[in-house]
Amino acid sequence: MERENFGSKIGAVLAAAGSAVGLGNVWRFPIETGQNGGAAFIIIYVICILLLGLPIMISEFLVGRYTHANTAGAFRIVSNGSPWKWVGRMGIFTGWFILCYYVVVGAWTMHYTFLSVTNAFHEVPAKEYGDIFDNFVAHPWLPTVWLFVFIGVIHYVITRGVQSGIEKSAKLMMPTLFLITIFLAVCSVSLPGASKGLEFLLKPDWSKVDSTTVLDAMGQAFYSLSLAMGCLCTYASYFDKKTPLAKSAVNVSIIDTLIAIMAGFIIFPSVFNIGMDPNEMGVGAGLTFVSLPNVFQQALGNGSFLAVVFSSLFYFLLFVAALTSAISLHEVATAYVTEEFDMTRKKGAALVTATVLILGTMCSLSFGPLSGLTLFDRSIFSLFDDFSGRILLPLGGMLISIFAGWVLDRKLYRDELSNQGDLKTPYFKMLVFSLRYIAPLAIGLVFLDQLGAFGFLK
Ligand code: TRP
Repeated sequence: MERENFGSKIGAVLAAAGSAVGLGNVWRFPIETGQNGGAAFIIIYVICILLLGLPIMISEFLVGRYTHANTAGAFRIVSNGSPWKWVGRMGIFTGWFILCYYVVVGAWTMHYTFLSVTNAFHEVPAKEYGDIFDNFVAHPWLPTVWLFVFIGVIHYVITRGVQSGIEKSAKLMMPTLFLITIFLAVCSVSLPGASKGLEFLLKPDWSKVDSTTVLDAMGQAFYSLSLAMGCLCTYASYFDKKTPLAKSAVNVSIIDTLIAIMAGFIIFPSVFNIGMDPNEMGVGAGLTFVSLPNVFQQALGNGSFLAVVFSSLFYFLLFVAALTSAISLHEVATAYVTEEFDMTRKKGAALVTATVLILGTMCSLSFGPLSGLTLFDRSIFSLFDDFSGRILLPLGGMLISIFAGWVLDRKLYRDELSNQGDLKTPYFKMLVFSLRYIAPLAIGLVFLDQLGAFGFLK
């Protein structure tokens, strides 16, 4: 079967950036930055990207583009039959797990866009936002309906194929996402009292930085850049031989980091405008679906036109960000079943979608009817989240860096990185050094931290 490529370099970068820019940029990065020393945290985060993120992203790009195969096939080819082939297979399943809970949150963003557009937050007292959210996620069927819609959209894009599905949608959605982000940031920054919010986000405070800050920054960098499970490896398998790997990786990282910082520009000026304490807003779902809808109403005028527009655009932005990331995760699995089990793309995608419908519904229902079902003290949703995020991702990142630094043929790496000698690679030695020593060690520490080994530091 003819294998598709992305049609343009810009399309390739936008698709990869679409994978990277996701919920992590909005619901974790800004609040982590604010609480961990502002610009000091951003500097550490950028160093993590330079030292660890980029080397691993470039390696994933390289393995994907060199083999032009799905992640499992790619690692089978480059591992020459050694057990390293399992790194690829593990990545597929990691992505599958992430997808199953990620779509649940993606569905919530749709519901909140709907609530915002219909002005449902009009005159809601501040303390009721928690109940609105709890009642919604515990509802016996409403979240599942949105879930099916969200997965349906992903499925549609995936079945259209690499160029007219993934690439075309990225070319439409990423500029949209960028424009909305700028618009919301400008609106928020022009609110009275905005400067305090920017100060919270940006003022460097090195006294808040300790070893756990560095570990948090590393973990966040990995998640935000979609690394460590072959997501970008799969996308890179659709790059053509002329795509500059290092430059594309730098571009993706810049886009991802800019959007994450701008998300802070959207959130904190409004928070400080109404005199709320950002340390009491929580992170993740609590921040996004409980604190922020209230913040937006109060800052922009309860039920006002501006509040409706701002809130609707904000949740639509989250929806687009979540959608492009979910598409990339789905593609990893689809490429895998299609190529490894010799199916048509249609069949492969349908198979993946069916499993995600089932497991995603279970994750979704674990906030309601299935909340009693727990394992290791965790709901189904947390189980998927923790298992993939705390165990499989750090493990994958460590193995990929060790493989790329120690096992993969050095000449092959250099030839592929330089597009067979067309590009200069003055950073090559540093790259290999990081892959061999810095990355495995650093990710090893993140791994131990995720498992709770450094609990005594906190
Ligand atoms: N990067 C996305 C975010 O910031 C999530 C994501 C997509 C992801 N693909 C991934 C995370 C692969 C880890 C691995 O929300």
